[in-house]
Amino acid sequence: MSNPISHWSPANQERASRLLEAYPDRRSALMPLLYVASLEHRYASDDAMEEVAELTGITAAQVRSVATFYTMFKQAPVGEYLISVCTSISCHLLGGEDVLESVEEAAGVEHGSTGEDGLFSVEHVECIGACGGAPAVQVNYELIEGVMPDRAGALVGWLRDTKPDVVLADEMQQLFGGVRSFDWGPTEAEGAIRPVPAFAPYGSAREGR
Ligand code: FES
Repeated sequence: MSNPISHWSPANQERASRLLEAYPDRRSALMPLLYVASLEHRYASDDAMEEVAELTGITAAQVRSVATFYTMFKQAPVGEYLISVCTSISCHLLGGEDVLESVEEAAGVEHGSTGEDGLFSVEHVECIGACGGAPAVQVNYELIEGVMPDRAGALVGWLRDTKPDVVLADEMQQLFGGVRSFDWGPTEAEGAIRPVPAFAPYGSAREGR
């Protein structure tokens, strides 16, 4: 049988192999494989879904039903940095809309879209579980709490200037955050590879691209 991902980068092929080895039933690797496929293709494209279907032994329609159910699997190309601003009630009451406006202005990208240079995608999201640290923002799913509008703009500028390969919540919190919902304990060791969340157990974080 031909290898459906032989054209993927060696790093992503390695990630996929490790995932498939980690589960006794290949189909159980579907969701983490979709992230790796998204890393390869920049989103859960038709090709990505077909490749994952071949890897897991299920149909492309079954893969699509999962990929289109969860909003973290994107249906269009995503920028290097996906900036998600919460505008649900707690964040809304503490200025989430202003934070979103500041991010849009600094990134030059309206929410729900990706800039032409592919650097930033901006989205507003429903509650991301950090209400006690509102207003909350994520960069590639790494959380920053207590982000004021001016600091949100500075965060975008920092991303543009430094272009980190891996983003770390603790680092961004220290540089651009405010009051946190609670003490999160040990300093974070892993970060997120753009635009895929940190999944250290699956081997997709802290490895560069
Ligand atoms: S309302 Fe924004 S994190 Fe819950």
